[in-house]
Amino acid sequence: MAEAVAVNAPKPDYGLDAPLTVKKMFTHGGWALAAGLVLWLVNHNDYPRPAAELLAVLGGAGVIYLGIGGFMVWSSRVAKLALRDRLLDSLELKGEERVLDVGCGRGLMLIGAARRLKSGKATGIDIWNQTDLTGNSAEAAKQNAKIEGVSDRVRIETGDARKLVYPDNHYDAVVSTLAIHNIPDEHGRDQAVREMWRVLKPGGRLVIFDIFHTTHYAKVLRECGARDITVSGLGWLWCVPSRTLFARK
Ligand SMILES: C[S@@+](CC[C@H](N)C(=O)[O-])C[C@H]1O[C@@H](n2cnc3c(N)ncnc32)[C@H](O)[C@@H]1O
Repeated sequence: MAEAVAVNAPKPDYGLDAPLTVKKMFTHGGWALAAGLVLWLVNHNDYPRPAAELLAVLGGAGVIYLGIGGFMVWSSRVAKLALRDRLLDSLELKGEERVLDVGCGRGLMLIGAARRLKSGKATGIDIWNQTDLTGNSAEAAKQNAKIEGVSDRVRIETGDARKLVYPDNHYDAVVSTLAIHNIPDEHGRDQAVREMWRVLKPGGRLVIFDIFHTTHYAKVLRECGARDITVSGLGWLWCVPSRTLFARK
């Protein structure tokens, strides 16, 4: 009986990142493979060599697209969970902290942090952009928090990273994964980094994992007076360059 309950228990769903790009990879890959096969079937009796070459080129391109699509799905569904645990480990939470997750999406970091808290609280803010994450909504994050048994330790609010509504020096830790690069202009991204810095308590820790701009975020934080800034080596999840930035106020 107990086993049946465990098997049927709902699982949290933290969504698929960049769903439109993933879809494009699978459709381009599928079309390229299909075109290669059809052209080969039609031509291989009369023109065996060109038909085989065409199949190799189109089939190769199709396999590459499908491979990238599959790797992106694996990055979201598998690798990001391991990344979450590594990033949260680095915060060395004791259990009574206030943690802010900026651009929390369906709550991956937010809920991961809440699971490590006892009397503390984790707050997640987001604008719930649909093109950045599948099924992105406050309700989805709340549902995941309920499934993970941390509803009493999380607060989920609509808010823009560029203008946080929280007071200065309020949070013991601020985290953000894959969110800030979605702000289209450099001024806006800088503003978001400065806001995360502003709401962080002296001695608090900031962890940002993102693609493309992390070394620039480090420069902004240096200007703010951050200490112990470290930027990790390059990673290639989602087939794009990414780094993690750690800093202390
Ligand atoms: C790729 S998702 C990542 C979500 C979550 N951090 C995770 O790792 O699963 C990027 C998130 O950033 C959010 N976002 C984009 N621009 C934002 C902004 N200006 N302020 C707050 N959140 C933003 C999107 O709505 C989306 O939920």
